[in-house]
Amino acid sequence: MEPNFAALRKEFPVLERKTYLNSGSYCALANDVKASIEAYMDDRLAIGANWDVWVTKNESVRELTAKLLRATPDEIAVTASVSAGLNSLASALDFSGPRNKVVSSDFEFPTNAQIWYAQESRGAKVVRVPRDASGYIPAESFAAAIDENTQLVAITHVCFRNGAKLEIPEIVRLARANGAKVLLDCYQAVGSIDIDVKKLDVDFAVGGMLKYLLGTAGIGFMYVRDSFTKSLVPTNSGWFAQADIPAMDITGNHPHPSARRFEAGTPAVVNCYASEAGLKFLLDVGTPAIEKRNFALTRRCMEQLVDIGWPSITPTQDARRGATVAIPSRDSAGLSRELIKRDIVTSYRDNNLRASFHFYNNEADIESFVGAMKDLRSEFAPR
Ligand SMILES: Cc1ncc(COP(=O)(O)O)c(C=O)c1O
Repeated sequence: MEPNFAALRKEFPVLERKTYLNSGSYCALANDVKASIEAYMDDRLAIGANWDVWVTKNESVRELTAKLLRATPDEIAVTASVSAGLNSLASALDFSGPRNKVVSSDFEFPTNAQIWYAQESRGAKVVRVPRDASGYIPAESFAAAIDENTQLVAITHVCFRNGAKLEIPEIVRLARANGAKVLLDCYQAVGSIDIDVKKLDVDFAVGGMLKYLLGTAGIGFMYVRDSFTKSLVPTNSGWFAQADIPAMDITGNHPHPSARRFEAGTPAVVNCYASEAGLKFLLDVGTPAIEKRNFALTRRCMEQLVDIGWPSITPTQDARRGATVAIPSRDSAGLSRELIKRDIVTSYRDNNLRASFHFYNNEADIESFVGAMKDLRSEFAPR
């Protein structure tokens, strides 16, 4: 049975005041998430330092993330950010031999490019696969870059600039055929579409809690395929990455046998409270139903934009799209400001306005957004 999306919408009070199309930047706040943060505050006032409970929250986030991605808890590191996870992983990779190539793409979020370029001082060679004339990067374009020297294919699932989704299964097949590993930056996808890391057959996946996972900033995750974990020893480490944390050993480095070895310091406790509540909410709704709804909402929005003569640049095929619709503008920042005046919250990157949808959006949101875009067309659409 389809979830009752109208009832679920009421759990996000900001939606009563705003047309909120900004989940690709930061989600709307759910009542449950707010209550969870308040429970942490109450705890601090009543008890002070409630560490016994606090550490269980970090473990709960790990378990819920594993459930979401169809992985096991031992395959999940709870990190401070995508950047923290990537740096820890990069520190465990050896680029000194012939297999020193990292293949990335024009669609990457900066951190999933910069961190690999930073490894060039350790021998890595970064190759960026370009977009084609249509603005997309088909899987065939990766074929020219992935070869027997490729150690890692580090790619985004959905591009933060234009909402395009890469053809992950085909790219993974190319990587496998050349003995390369695949890292998926699924931050712009996770929670908005259904993700099964085992079915996708990726080796690593990174993301965070503040967008479609309904949580907050300052906490993320990294999935690491179990069979690789023990062969990877991060030099970017910390006491929460150790096999025996309470031992407080200062005589050596003993990484945890699980993906916890990619963690570092004290967990961000309040962020765990928020993220636990967000993940529970999302899992209760169910990612297959959320994916279906987001495809329907984005499709509808794109059709209506065509009707007003201001089409988006996001691919129309479901297989090539996430939950963001990107619309070109000659002043995307100015357009976003004009929309804010009308209580419509979006974001912008480059020359594109981004309207990102989640299951709590509805037809009325599309109508007010497209209606406002129609009014602003002559001033902001490309000439
Ligand atoms: C695809 C993608 N990757 C990574 C990030 C940023 O990751 P972090 O700030 O957690 O390092 C973002 C943030 O917007 C993103 O959209």
